[in-house]
Formats: sequence, structure tokens, C-alpha cells
Amino acid sequence: MGLIIKWDKDKFNVGVELFNTHHKRLVDLLNLLHSVVDSTNNKKHIEIIFNELAKYTVYHFKAEEKMMEKYNYHHLALQHVEHEKFLNTVVEAIDAYKKGITMIEVIKLLDFLREWIINHILKSDMKYKEFFKDKI
Ligand SMILES: [Fe+2]
Repeated sequence: MGLIIKWDKDKFNVGVELFNTHHKRLVDLLNLLHSVVDSTNNKKHIEIIFNELAKYTVYHFKAEEKMMEKYNYHHLALQHVEHEKFLNTVVEAIDAYKKGITMIEVIKLLDFLREWIINHILKSDMKYKEFFKDKI
């Protein structure tokens, strides 16, 4: 297994440099998580990356929502709901991981995170590209 998300700066460009940087970091963390699961599968290490992923996701969502609020972005409410839902899932997943889940469940979880991050960037966030274009 190689990288699970190959970063493509053109494809993932949401038009706001700060958020491109955030998204790249999220993708890097997910790829790191994947490579540790694939190699050593060290539980402590995996938990540390999981926690960092959750912490960084909170940070990123807050930054996005702050910017959306500042410019009165019309999809803010929808984005907020999506963000909360995702964070709850991540927190629950970390909890489940700590308690012990099977390898199949870990793979399923990585797959879910992968799909979610890609959708978040390409579907949800791509919608603000045009909106922020002349503002930021
Ligand atoms: Fe985002």
C-alpha cells in the first residue's frame, strides 16, 4: 500500500492559500496514519497521529468558519453541520480505536477518512472558491 491520497495542488486548489496549506496537512496526516498502520502498526504511534488529526481538523474547521462568518458566506450553516458531524465521527473512532478494533475496521476507518477529506475539499470547499476569489 502506498500513499492513500496523492496531493495534487491544482486539483485540490480551493483558491485560499491558507486553506490549501491546511488541507495539505490533513492529507499528510492521513497518509502518515496509513503508512504507520501498514508498517509497524504501533498502537501508541497511531493514537498520537489520530489525536493530531482530530486536533488539526478542529483548528482547520474553526479557521474556515471564521472566514465564512467574516464574509457572510451563504453555505456557512451547512458547512458547520458537516464539520460537527465529521468531528463527532472522528472522536468516536479514536475512542473505539483505543478500546480495540479489528484490522478490518481500521482499514474501513482509513477509507472513510480518505473519502471524507477528498469530498470536503473537492465538493464542499470548492464551492467557496468563486465566493472568496475577490475577497481574500
Ligand atoms: Fe476545508
